[in-house]
Amino acid sequence: MDIEIAIEKTDNPKPLPSDESFGFGKYFTDHMFITEYSKLLGWHAPRIVPYQNLRLDPGAAVLHYGQAIFEGMKAFRGTDGKIRLFRPEMNWKRMKESAERLCLEFVDLPVFIESLLRLVRTDVHWVPSKAGTALYLRPTLIGSEAFLGVRAAENLMYYVIASPVGGYYGSNAIEPVKIWVERKYSRAAPGGMGAAKAGGNYAASLKAASEAKKRGFAQVLWLDASKKEYVEEVGTMNVFFKIGDTVITPPLGGTILPGITRDSVIQLLRESKTPIEERPISLSEILEAHKTGDLKEVFGTGTAASISPVGAFGVNDELISINGGKVGTLSSELYQTLTDIQYGRRPDPLGWTMEVSL
Ligand code: COI
Repeated sequence: MDIEIAIEKTDNPKPLPSDESFGFGKYFTDHMFITEYSKLLGWHAPRIVPYQNLRLDPGAAVLHYGQAIFEGMKAFRGTDGKIRLFRPEMNWKRMKESAERLCLEFVDLPVFIESLLRLVRTDVHWVPSKAGTALYLRPTLIGSEAFLGVRAAENLMYYVIASPVGGYYGSNAIEPVKIWVERKYSRAAPGGMGAAKAGGNYAASLKAASEAKKRGFAQVLWLDASKKEYVEEVGTMNVFFKIGDTVITPPLGGTILPGITRDSVIQLLRESKTPIEERPISLSEILEAHKTGDLKEVFGTGTAASISPVGAFGVNDELISINGGKVGTLSSELYQTLTDIQYGRRPDPLGWTMEVSL
């Protein structure tokens, strides 16, 4: 499909940061993609422009009623020099579902894909090549209509920005993180918007995350909103538990984000004939398995976090160490397989990667 996208290049390219200094989301590339929606025109004027502030009316819906959703994805530069996206159609599908939950219109799949490809091509020298680094892409959809009545906005903006990143937790390699089991605050309730990648879900998570950080933990493990017993997800990741020889992850039931790395890991485990169960898992079951020595490994999955082993849980006053605080074999194998596919170091039989032709 031929989609006409105007390209306006910057006259002032920024200096490239060194890859040791990336961290996560600190730097932004020279350009961005943007297109607007109105009831009259539909989606129109798709364009690449120099990275810039948005022109938003102070009465815009997003600033008052939080109509904002986003995606997180990465462009990987392989050892073969090729640049690949990872399952981008899954991000579109999830963004479309998030949009529906928040009463937002969204662009069709070809426009979404083209928005990513054009931005990556325009800022191609920003795609880093060092192991563990990537160009993180942030497709974002907001209600831009200036109107204070509470209803869905009729004017919208969809834009994509990009940021060269290393590991989410600071290191570009796989390293265990400490997670606080949150028993006071909730992230999402049944019937709410927990399955949508909505900015508001992250706003709701900040209080617990900052309290956990003060206690020395990287993120929180969320439990179900009503009983505070069943595990849901970690701050920016889905979560997996290896108990005995079986891997268990909570099922998607509307309160959990349907992670694309989560789905990929489930498929990789099935392929390697590792027993994998998507079922409710309670905190008591985890603590019991820890007591009996059956809790072998815990790891989180996410685009930003990749595969992140959990080295310890903080439960009330107790610190529960997992696998002696070390990276487990399964986490490390999954990290290797997943990143090998993403960086083009091994074949991609499931067709997960999309090469960015330059
Ligand atoms: C991602 O993994 O891409 C996320 O969106 C998580 C977070 C950084 C918000």
